[in-house]
Amino acid sequence: MSHKEVLICRCSDVTLEELRALIEEGYHTFEELKRITRIGMGPCQGKTCGHLVLRELSHCTGKSIDELRMQQSRPPGVGVKLSLIAKEAETNGE
Ligand code: FES
Repeated sequence: MSHKEVLICRCSDVTLEELRALIEEGYHTFEELKRITRIGMGPCQGKTCGHLVLRELSHCTGKSIDELRMQQSRPPGVGVKLSLIAKEAETNGE
């Protein structure tokens, strides 16, 4: 399996190859990577990919995972009714 096929963030469809390219370009924090790719902003809010991203950052930058910060989670400021989300999904054909 190549790095193109390895999904790091399945919510936002970010592959290991894309992540490594961005780290190589100089994006060395979770927040920077999040702003560029939306990694960690999917329905799971980074619960699935968060530790994978930190591990990859650690591997590529030589920093320990303890030195790196997890993304800042920003849930919606107000409650959202599930019926509204369902209606939006129907409108978008999902
Ligand atoms: S897997 Fe990355 S936000 Fe869900």
